[in-house]
Amino acid sequence: MRNNETEINRRDGANASMWQAASINTVAKDHANQEEIYDTLIIGGGITGITTAYLLQKQGKHCALVEAKNLGFGTTGGTTAHLNTFLDTTYPEIDSDFSKETSGLVAEGTKKMIKMISTNIEELKIDADFEFKMAYLFSQNEKETKELQSILESSQAAGVAVSEADENGVPIPYDHVLRFESQAQFHPLKYITALAKEFEKLGGKIIEQIFIHSTELREDIHYAKSDKFIIQAKNIVYATHIPPGINILSLRNAPYRSYVLAVKLNSGEYPDCLAYDMQEPYHYFRSHEIDGQQYLIIGGADHKTGHGDPLKAFEDLQDYAKKYFDIGEISYKWSSQYYVPVDGLPYVGQLPGGDKGIYVATGFNGNGMILGSLSAVLISDLILGKENPYEKLFNPSRLKPIAGFAEFVKENADVAYHFVADRFGAEIIKSTSELGKSEGKIVEFDGEKLALYKDNAGKITALNPVCTHAGCIVNWNPTEKTWDCPCHGGRFSVDGQVLTGPPQKDLGSIPLEELESVRDKK
Ligand code: FES
Repeated sequence: MRNNETEINRRDGANASMWQAASINTVAKDHANQEEIYDTLIIGGGITGITTAYLLQKQGKHCALVEAKNLGFGTTGGTTAHLNTFLDTTYPEIDSDFSKETSGLVAEGTKKMIKMISTNIEELKIDADFEFKMAYLFSQNEKETKELQSILESSQAAGVAVSEADENGVPIPYDHVLRFESQAQFHPLKYITALAKEFEKLGGKIIEQIFIHSTELREDIHYAKSDKFIIQAKNIVYATHIPPGINILSLRNAPYRSYVLAVKLNSGEYPDCLAYDMQEPYHYFRSHEIDGQQYLIIGGADHKTGHGDPLKAFEDLQDYAKKYFDIGEISYKWSSQYYVPVDGLPYVGQLPGGDKGIYVATGFNGNGMILGSLSAVLISDLILGKENPYEKLFNPSRLKPIAGFAEFVKENADVAYHFVADRFGAEIIKSTSELGKSEGKIVEFDGEKLALYKDNAGKITALNPVCTHAGCIVNWNPTEKTWDCPCHGGRFSVDGQVLTGPPQKDLGSIPLEELESVRDKK
C-alpha cells in the first residue's frame, strides 16, 4: 500500500490515489509579474480551473492560474474519472424538479463534454489512457427495478443512447440492467497536466504553492492577494469547489466523501466496462492499467464529510468487494471529496454577493470530470461575452424553492445542529496519553476543546478545533489523517493548514507549553 506521507504531498490526504503512481512531469513553477494585468485569474488547479484557463487562453485571453498546493491536489487527483452521459442526479429527477427540456439540455452537455475531452486528447496528442466503454446500471430489487425503468424512459426522452441489456459486466447478481453507449474513462492527472502544459505553450502562466487569501475590486481591476504578491486581473474564477469565505453556496452544497479501492484480481479477468449498482450509497466499478498492471477500481461507501466513520467506510467497501471478486492485493485505497447541490444541478457563474467579474463553479455531485468541463465552457463563454445555454440553468443565484427544498432544510438543520452540539455536547477524554501514534482526537482540556494529533515519533500537535470558516468543530479523519469540518466540508492538515475550502485561514495552533502549564496547575 502506497502512502505519501513522506513524499511531496500531492493530494489532500495521506492516502495516495492510483493516479499519483504515474510519473507525470509537472509544470514549471512560475512567478507573478506584479505589473501585469491579466484578463482572467483562475484560482484552483483541477480539471475545472485548467480547462477554463486553456479555453480562455486559446481564444486570445491572457490568463494566469494559481494553485495553493500543486495541480491535481484536490478532487481531480482523487476522482475515479468516469465520463458518463447519465449523472448522480437522474433524468427522472431533473424531469420532475426542472423540466423535460432541462433533461435534454443536460444530456446534450454531457455528450458534448465526452466529445470535447476526447477531441482535446486527440488533437493535442495527450497520452491520457482515454477509452470509450459501455456502462451498465443495474437493479437488485423490485424498488430499484422500478426506478431503473423510469431512468430508461427519461434518459431516452432526453436523447441519451441507452437500452435494456442482459449482462451487467461484473460478477454481481442483478435483476435488470441498462446499457449506456459511448461512455468513457481516462487518467485524470495525465489529462490535466497535458492541458496545463498546452495552456503554458499558448502563453498562460501557472503559479503553484500560492494561496490567494483575499481579493479587492478597484476601478474594474481585481487585486488578488497572497502572502507573497498581488496579482491583478479583470476577472477571477474560483475553481475551488466552494469559494472561500462565508457564502450562500456553502448552504446550498453538502460536502461528501467517497471511498475507493484499486485492487489486483487473482483471476486476471478485469471488467471491460463501467458498472454501477443502485444501492444507497451506490458502488461503482471500472478497470485501469497503470505501468502494465491492471487494477479493478471499486468505489462507494460515501458519507457526509466530517460525519460517518472513514475506517468503517473502507472496511465496508472491502467486505463488499471481497464478496464478489477474488482479490489478490489491495494496491491503493483513498477517499475524495465532492459536493451535492441542494436542487441537483451545479452552481456555475457570477459569485452571489461577490464583486462583479468573480465566477464560481461547484455542486458537481459525483460527476466532476463532466460537469467541471461543462463549467469551464460556461465560464469561458461568460467571460468572452458569448451566449451559453447553461447560463440561466446553472446560475448560482437561482432560487428553486420546490426542487430540493426538503434536502435544503435537512442540510441546514444539520449545520445548525453542529454549531450547537459541537460546542456543548462532548466526548471528554482525560489524558493525551490515550492517543495512539498517527492518531488525532478532539479532547476537552480545562473546559476547552482541542484538536490533538500524535505523530509517529510521539510528538503531539495541538490545534484550536474551531473551524475558521464559520465556527463548527472539526472531526478527525483517521484514514486521510486530516481534520474535516462537518458543516461545509472544510479540511485541514495535521498542522492545521487549509487543505480544502471554504475556510481561508489555518486552524489556530496552540503551543504545547500552554497545555503543560494548565496541566501543572491542576
Ligand atoms: Fe464551514 Fe467549517 S467549513 S464551519
